[in-house]
Amino acid sequence: MALPSHRTGSLHRPLLQFLLPPPSHPRPRTRKNMIATAAKYGPLVRIGPNDLLCTDPETLRRMSSVRSAYTKGVFYETGRIIPGYNNIVCERDEEKHKALRTKMAGAYNGRENGSTGFEESIDRQMLNLVALIESKYVSSPGNLRPFDLCAKTHFFSLDVISDASFGKAFGFLVEDRDLHQFVEINDSALPAMNFLQAVPSLTNIVYRWPFNLALPRDVDGVGFGRLMGYVVPLVRLGGLFADSPVGWQRVAWRSGFDLMQSQGGICSSVAGSITTAAAIRHTLLALISTPSVYATLQKEIDESVSSGRVSRPVIRDVEAQALPYLQAMIREGYRTWPSVVGLGSKQVPKGGDSICGFHVPEGTQVSHNYSGVMRLKEVFGEDADVFRPERWLEEEADAERLKLMNSVLELAFGNGKYQCLGKRIALMELNKIFFEVGVRLMCQLKNLYLC
Ligand code: HEM
Repeated sequence: MALPSHRTGSLHRPLLQFLLPPPSHPRPRTRKNMIATAAKYGPLVRIGPNDLLCTDPETLRRMSSVRSAYTKGVFYETGRIIPGYNNIVCERDEEKHKALRTKMAGAYNGRENGSTGFEESIDRQMLNLVALIESKYVSSPGNLRPFDLCAKTHFFSLDVISDASFGKAFGFLVEDRDLHQFVEINDSALPAMNFLQAVPSLTNIVYRWPFNLALPRDVDGVGFGRLMGYVVPLVRLGGLFADSPVGWQRVAWRSGFDLMQSQGGICSSVAGSITTAAAIRHTLLALISTPSVYATLQKEIDESVSSGRVSRPVIRDVEAQALPYLQAMIREGYRTWPSVVGLGSKQVPKGGDSICGFHVPEGTQVSHNYSGVMRLKEVFGEDADVFRPERWLEEEADAERLKLMNSVLELAFGNGKYQCLGKRIALMELNKIFFEVGVRLMCQLKNLYLC
């Protein structure tokens, strides 16, 4: 079957409709559109002259599998931060991407970060977050102390990533302020990023004068560029944090990373920390606003603490993995609200392909509908739109169904040759934060005001 014309065919929906939010109501609309589009038009929808939106798990998995002939699509051009230099995200040449990935994988798997990998970095920042809440944000009657969940979760994930990268955190949590206006600048740049991702052909213009003046540079005093600047002395002067034995940047540098590669690495990590903060935020919000889930998790946490089954002051990752309800709640969090909404399109290889019964010509850009795939009723059940962690436990009786749900959920981190390199560290952060902050919020929710 051939794809109908993008002008007349039922597969058509304009690309910009997904990604250009009205100014008053930004990101949720993108997600809603993607979910609604899959529900209305099915697993393959034409959203632009050469662009398809795919919600078929099997196709999404196959395109990124290690032996797939698909390549990263034009969309990834928008991930270039330093003009003329391709980082792991925007590198579309398969061989170069593989080489870069091999170099980075050792550093990202955490094993070279000392015997406990990233865990100590996360624990340190976990304690900093708890100390911040306890010292400044516990309200009492007549003394309301608002806690900005958006900003503080971002501070936490940025400090984790810098601690794991350099052996020393940027210091957002300790100072409790938006250092170098990073969060402010990042948030205000996101709509423009969204626009570019919808029209990636405009990306090249951004790298030309005068637009390139707005790109972050390591000499900047603020924003992304300021964070990139942390890497410069590390590489040029032989180690900014010479007293620290850990830090994957140190590992990467030893394995031959140059300045550009190190800066590219820190950019991907900082981007990953934004994604992790989004996952934390949504799940905490869902948890706090679903009393039955809240109570069940609290019971599991209380029992595990009182029986002495978990380490204090911070739960070990392996202990968190053994708490069934916590795990179900985390899965349900990033299922109902997968942090990545970008199209992540892959390019159909030579000779074309057959997708969902349609012939798709070579060069076509096939995008991921991350939000749509996580709401598939045939996978997650009729109540797929509901935040209900129990679905991950009920299915224990039905191993096949659970296997299917897990395999689809995994797509939230991509697959195969493009799979998220930060998956392990991100999941470790989630495992700890809902337990540690969760246990304290549960004790003190009445006294806390979350905005
Ligand atoms: C909940 C948190 C996170 C989610 C849901 C997530 C998800 C993803 C997804 C969907 C991709 C793209 C896969 C593709 O292109 O097909 C990706 C790529 C990537 N992520 Fe993450 N990510 C998270 C956190 C992180 C963190 C914390 C880091 C860094 C420490 C990180 C580093 C990367 C890198 C380097 C890539 C590029 C991989 C490549 O192109 O080979 N991510 N991530």
